[in-house]
Amino acid sequence: MAELRNSQAPGAGRGIVIHGAQWGDEGKGKIVDLLTESAKAVVRFQGGNNAGHTLVVGGEKTVLHLLPSGILHDGKACLIGNGVVLDPEVLCQEMDTLAKKGIDVSPERLVISKKTHVIMPYHRLLDGARETLLAGSKIGTTGRGIGPCYEDKMARIGIRAGDFADPDLLAKKIARALVEKNALFTKLYELPALDPGAVAEALAPVAKRLVPYLGDVSSIIQKTLATGDVLFEGAQGTHLDIDHGTYPFVTSSNTVSGQAAAGSGCAPAVLSRVVAVVKAYTTRVGSGPFPTELFGTVGDYLQSKGGEFGATTGRKRRCGWLDLVLLRESARLSGPTDIALTKLDVLSGLFEIKICIGYRYKGKVYEYPPQEEGALEFVEPIYETMPGWEEDITGITAWEDLPLAAREYVSRIEQSLKTTCSILSVGPDRRQTIIRG
Ligand code: GDP
Ligand code: IMO
Ligand code: MG
Repeated sequence: MAELRNSQAPGAGRGIVIHGAQWGDEGKGKIVDLLTESAKAVVRFQGGNNAGHTLVVGGEKTVLHLLPSGILHDGKACLIGNGVVLDPEVLCQEMDTLAKKGIDVSPERLVISKKTHVIMPYHRLLDGARETLLAGSKIGTTGRGIGPCYEDKMARIGIRAGDFADPDLLAKKIARALVEKNALFTKLYELPALDPGAVAEALAPVAKRLVPYLGDVSSIIQKTLATGDVLFEGAQGTHLDIDHGTYPFVTSSNTVSGQAAAGSGCAPAVLSRVVAVVKAYTTRVGSGPFPTELFGTVGDYLQSKGGEFGATTGRKRRCGWLDLVLLRESARLSGPTDIALTKLDVLSGLFEIKICIGYRYKGKVYEYPPQEEGALEFVEPIYETMPGWEEDITGITAWEDLPLAAREYVSRIEQSLKTTCSILSVGPDRRQTIIRG
């Protein structure tokens, strides 16, 4: 306890959470990459390779699914926390791709918590089989086995990364987990049973390769905080949160800022800055309610100009106007200290821009989403219309140089959320950013 307090003593680093405030793909990767410059370590604390975080540096694009978005900065520690679900094959592929580009992915800087749960082939199979069974009411998952892996964690039959170090134990745990799975595969899903021995054998090479990366992420964070800042990189977004999102059209982890503590093993008090990443309009991949969704030419404009294709599955992202009701709820849940507003450049060229400032539902006006499950399907957005701007803003690096209408749009968001937009992103590249002091 005394040691943890010390990590917050004057001169010590801060825990900085960067999380998505909408339905994911807000541009978290870009913001984490940007902030890594002045931090010592970056930790992923939930989700898995359902995430696709894009970094663009000097025109070169890198998409990360599991590795923390600090990986392009030499010498910064990259940590995978206990709250993540890890597909070992995907991680190895990602490490190989980066190593070929000359990026250091050695155990000197990359550490995986021994407590991180592992996505197994049967999780991926189950994810697909469930979606098929849901037919017309699919969630539209990424098919990466995320939900089934978290289910096994909660059912206490999961495989943890620490098990990689003990092949015999690993084989026993796989056999135990497959008892129920095989019954499901053969009796319900009309799939062949998996042979536990074969599953263990197939996993052995990657498991062996990852053993040197295993460590105590929680303690590393604590030690690092004694000397510098640690970034906590969220995946997905608030409204995909398993509890607070648009259930059941959500992911299987908590995505709110508070999860940064539990998902990495640090005390909540160290999280002194929370950066909510907000896209200047709204997108969503997969099924589920989306009150401000646009179906006509404006939606198409945002989709194509914003390059709104999923970084993980390549699916087209649904697009719509900015929704302040969802953002207020997100702020209420995650308590941002500041906002990183992204993709402002995509709005250039629109004659007018709408912002949803409230919902009408069952004859009443709501400033926050009605809490009944499914209510979001039926709310009617109330819009305010603001003037747009023509100018291309992708080369602007100072707040004063933005067109007046763009500044007014940003100010309207700040006023509504009572939070400052400290970072404005006007293009995908690291340097296409306006930092406001
Ligand atoms: P994440 O999942 O939150 O990290 O976001 P994604 O990487 O899935 O999606 C964001 C997309 O927008 C990526 O293609 C980024 O390169 C891109 N992007 C990020 N910020 C900006 C911006 O300010 N303007 C434009 N035009 N693109 C951006
Ligand atoms: P990043 O970190 C956008 C969505 C899926 C689906 C739902 C459940 O890049 O912002 P899952 O595979 O998690 O069980 O799918 O969640 N989803 C995302 N949407 N960005 C993401 O991650 C997402 N991760 C999951 O499309 O609707
Ligand atoms: Mg993404």
